[in-house]
Amino acid sequence: MDILFVTSNLHKLKEAQEILGDGFNLTIPSQMGITEDIPEDGQTLEQNAVFKAGYVHKANGMDCFADDTGLEAEALGGAPGVYSARYAGPECNSLDNMHKLLKELEGQKNRKARFRCIVALILENRTYTFEGILNGTILEQKTGYGGFGYDPVFLPDGYTKTLAELTPEEKNLISHRGIAMRKLSDFLKNHHQK
Ligand code: IMP
Repeated sequence: MDILFVTSNLHKLKEAQEILGDGFNLTIPSQMGITEDIPEDGQTLEQNAVFKAGYVHKANGMDCFADDTGLEAEALGGAPGVYSARYAGPECNSLDNMHKLLKELEGQKNRKARFRCIVALILENRTYTFEGILNGTILEQKTGYGGFGYDPVFLPDGYTKTLAELTPEEKNLISHRGIAMRKLSDFLKNHHQK
């Protein structure tokens, strides 16, 4: 099945392709000459995911899906949440974001956090959303070199390795994106059997 994944993040593309498997052939907007930045200024992950998918669907009429992910720390009232990508400021990178998170949690005993991923699908002019959650804790320092974003500081519940120390297969099996995208995959497979 050919489907457009609205992202410019090649880490996400790789994870999504591995999660969805050979039955899905993913294309991203830049491969079709769409290179403009799609705004992500919604108040919730759901709004951002639906907006991104809707933006590209309006432009070219194609069925597509988009994801938006946030890291929610309990002691910070769910921050950085929807602001995870620009937590340390508009020009910041993942390293800056992680350092800001570690600073905000300095001295905090409650280090519980979760990744929440929302996938929005636009299929035959209808919108569907799928959610994946991964619970864990934020370590006091970065550990591991794999993955991307906040992976080096996130220890999933029941694990002794951070997401950045797991293999891609191990991460995909438990991750927020893995859970949400397997829901998407089941939905698409059922839909196409009808
Ligand atoms: P977005 O979904 O691209 O807006 O991602 C929001 C922020 O969360 C960015 O800083 C990403 O690097 C980070 N992020 C998204 N997915 C993951 C993940 O699977 N692991 C770690 N960080 C992630």
